Amino acid sequence: MNDLRDKYLTAIADAAGESALEDLRLAAVGKKGEISLKMRELGKMSPEERQVMGPKLNALKDEINSALAAKKQALSDAALDERLRTEWLDVTLPARPQRQGSIHPVSQVTEEVTAIFADMGFAVAEGPQVESDWHNFDALNIPGHHPARAEMDTFYMHRADGDDRPPHVLRTHTSPVQIRSMELAGAPLRVICPGRVYRADYDQTHTPMFHQVEGLAIDKDISMANLKWVLEEFVKAFFEVDEVELRFRASHFPFTEPSAEVDIRCSWEGGTLKVGEGDDWLEILGSGMVHPKVLMAGNIDPAAWQGFAFGVGIDRIAMLKYGIPDLRAFFESDLRWLRHYGFAALDVPTIRGGLSR
Ligand code: PHE
Repeated sequence: MNDLRDKYLTAIADAAGESALEDLRLAAVGKKGEISLKMRELGKMSPEERQVMGPKLNALKDEINSALAAKKQALSDAALDERLRTEWLDVTLPARPQRQGSIHPVSQVTEEVTAIFADMGFAVAEGPQVESDWHNFDALNIPGHHPARAEMDTFYMHRADGDDRPPHVLRTHTSPVQIRSMELAGAPLRVICPGRVYRADYDQTHTPMFHQVEGLAIDKDISMANLKWVLEEFVKAFFEVDEVELRFRASHFPFTEPSAEVDIRCSWEGGTLKVGEGDDWLEILGSGMVHPKVLMAGNIDPAAWQGFAFGVGIDRIAMLKYGIPDLRAFFESDLRWLRHYGFAALDVPTIRGGLSR
């Protein structure tokens, strides 16, 4: 009995893992284990012998069982400790720069524009890129025969054979989001609508997909003066300069009346662009007072409300601000280009923290 006891207690203490421990349990106290077999021999003993051996064997069995249970607990504690040690993670460590992706200039500029207009009380609105012909054109006072439809080099979606409803289009500008915002929220309204737009055009300054941000403010007593102030504030904040000079040129858009295109004073001296000085002018946006027919299409009463709207090319102002010469490179996913022109992922543009660094 003493030999058995020593043998099993030592083996249990030395057991390397749970399966070795289970083997020991079977060998000692399992159905055919050594101690179980000894207990069966009790039947063949004399009553006197049995009285001595019975309690001894039972005590040995209990001792081994509790040694097994204690070891099992110790092994599982050790396994948990090991797991906690290897899975330990210091969440206070800084991000590793070599593993950071970079933010594309279009995303960066969209965030910058959003931050600037948020500060002036504009919310962000969105609309679909596959747009109804009505939202993209008719509701914006561009009827079927209007030359603007042809000028915009529209991509038309396909309709099933026999379906003669007008086909949907890839939106050619963000202006349809004006209509959707009016339908959704009514007046008064102050939104910007950034997003992708599509026109069949391709050269150094045109890609078939590009980005615009639309602005729309509707209220009582809104005039061209409000439009001018908002755009000047925007341009100063965006280009991070104290003074800019804007030129409002009379223009024509079917959905605004009057309409103005806005140029910014700049210089190209030495091949680099500087905003706010020089003798050149660069067109950056279209704008105007929302046409009464457009308000009506958005279920807003033009006798009670007026508004201004504008549309800025995001890619274009990104090229200007960050000196990026070719628009096509924006969409080629060239890693070297992205590393050069990209922005740190954790530097979120804010008015107070700074737009760009
Ligand atoms: N939608 C016009 C364009 O794409 C821009 C614009 C927007 C003009 C709003 C006036 C008002 O060229």
